[in-house]
Amino acid sequence: MIDKIKALRAEIAALQAQSAEEVEKIRIKYLSKKGEISSLMNDFRSVPAELKREVGQQLNQLKTEANERLAALKEALASADESGKAGMDLTRSATPIPFGTRHPLSLVKNEIFEIFGAQGFTIAEGPEIEDDWHVFSSLNFPPDHPARDMQDTFFISREPSDVLLRTHTSSVQTRTMETQKPPIRIICPGRVYRNEAISARAHCFFHQVEGLYIDKNVSFADLKQVLLYFAREMFGPDTKIRLRPSYFPFTEPSAEMDISCHICGGKGCAFCKGTGWVEILGCGMVDPNVLEACGIDSTVYSGYAFGMGIERITNLKYRVKDLRMFSENDVRFLHEFDAAH
Ligand code: DAH
Repeated sequence: MIDKIKALRAEIAALQAQSAEEVEKIRIKYLSKKGEISSLMNDFRSVPAELKREVGQQLNQLKTEANERLAALKEALASADESGKAGMDLTRSATPIPFGTRHPLSLVKNEIFEIFGAQGFTIAEGPEIEDDWHVFSSLNFPPDHPARDMQDTFFISREPSDVLLRTHTSSVQTRTMETQKPPIRIICPGRVYRNEAISARAHCFFHQVEGLYIDKNVSFADLKQVLLYFAREMFGPDTKIRLRPSYFPFTEPSAEMDISCHICGGKGCAFCKGTGWVEILGCGMVDPNVLEACGIDSTVYSGYAFGMGIERITNLKYRVKDLRMFSENDVRFLHEFDAAH
């Protein structure tokens, strides 16, 4: 009898049904009053007393398994039925996933790429964790220059030599000049870090784009033309530029560039503090000391460089009042730039 029960258990475990009628047939065959399991129950009376315990357990097991199998077959049919119901569109796309949006800094960065890309510049990148040589020494910063101060620079370690977070993307100039021969024409986008208290107008990290062009006979006039083209592409064809003498250790001569205020058209407003001009970048002719530090012969080659803050350009274009908005990633803020895509 035990063998018979075992054979039935195997048979029931393998049962399949394609329709409700087949399920019902199975129920009648195994579980109805005249079904196979009931007849085994009847036979149970004649089982010798010493075997009753074991056979009884097996019989109960068989009955439970048969009921479970029947329920599973019913369930499978019901769910197959559900998905096949008339009127259900199986080709319909799944629940929509909402679109993300490009960050305003990425939008402006891409625009900068396009403008300089059209003038033959390619993109170069470098590490955010830097050493003193690439961020300061190679760029002609004297050993006691205030920019090296703990106030400005995040140092990661000072021994045996300085490891720090780059304070500007000018470090990528050095890295490129060390490994490539002129002509070099690159723009270097990236994140930079300064030890500043976070407020609406300052942050401990922001983004820059650096430009560098090294070749024979490069002049300040070339620099001016490239920057004028940039300003007009970025802020409109009527934009004027103005270069004011300035100082950077790595350029000589150095200048800061203003554009005519595109909000008041140069008449003077609250935004440009009544001057009609707003500052957008620093630039100059690469100091011969920098060329020599990077292994480029300064008697043969000359070049220009410029650097700008992407947040600053974005603020000028889109009037973002609080710098912190750029790193909070509030989707309501990000979606305000959908139209600019
Ligand atoms: N590195 C400067 C800064 O972070 C920006 C800059 C100014 C870059 C003049 C240049 C340059 O390449 O020529 O403030």
